[in-house]
Amino acid sequence: MPSESTIPAAAPTVTAATPTAPMELPATVTAPVPTPEAVQPDVTSLDATGLDRVFREARTFSKWSAKQVSDEDLRALYDLLKMGPTSANCSPARFAFLRNPWSKDRLKPALSAGNLEKTMAAPVTVIVAHDPHFYDNLPRLFPHADAKVWFTSNPGLAEQTAFRNGSLQGAYLIMAARSLGIDAGPMSGFDNDKVDQEFFADRGWKSNFLINLGHGEKGTTYDRLPRLSFDEACLLL
Ligand SMILES: Cc1cc2nc3c(=O)[nH]c(=O)nc-3n(C[C@H](O)[C@H](O)[C@H](O)COP(=O)(O)O)c2cc1C
Repeated sequence: MPSESTIPAAAPTVTAATPTAPMELPATVTAPVPTPEAVQPDVTSLDATGLDRVFREARTFSKWSAKQVSDEDLRALYDLLKMGPTSANCSPARFAFLRNPWSKDRLKPALSAGNLEKTMAAPVTVIVAHDPHFYDNLPRLFPHADAKVWFTSNPGLAEQTAFRNGSLQGAYLIMAARSLGIDAGPMSGFDNDKVDQEFFADRGWKSNFLINLGHGEKGTTYDRLPRLSFDEACLLL
């Protein structure tokens, strides 16, 4: 892990004079000031722009621009998030992408009042769920051992594993979305049982939380709330 001092800060941009060929019109271009990181990239870290996009500048949005999220975007999103690690590669998360008004209407009765308007307005709402019978895929996903029996013989472990790893995969979705330039608004304020009955009665999947996806209207978020300091949240043992 890089220490804070080795994490690249955003490189400032300046307008620098550059020599131009006779037919080239612009006499100036906007170019980033080269930093030591830019000259010799630290291969263990994203650059400052990447860190800003995924963490430092990323916000939870409630207001959305008109820019849509396509089905191709959703496939690209899944192809990234699926690579995030899960225990024994169990991959229990399941995702329902609601991307038209009819699907959103089915969700409406389950939403808490405070989550209604932004969810109806979002280009896409994801139901992050998990499959309680995720272990049926383990002979394919984790062929090194007979992992399926670990869970069929222990329903409590199976439930805990599905919830833990499904939650992780929901978080991977948020970070994958940010990596692709898509904003996210996670929500737990809804009735899980209603959602499960409406969307997953035939499959038996269990909803965990929701994520609105779209392109956030800049300037519509509250000021960033404080986070706990390293010393408050971490132990160095
Ligand atoms: C699992 C989860 C559930 C959340 N539930 C709700 C919710 O029901 N309604 C809501 O308005 N915001 C909800 N939030 C949004 C958080 O309040 C928000 O992400 C947090 O304050 C950080 O905001 P920031 O990303 O803009 O810094 C939820 C966030 C997470 C991760």
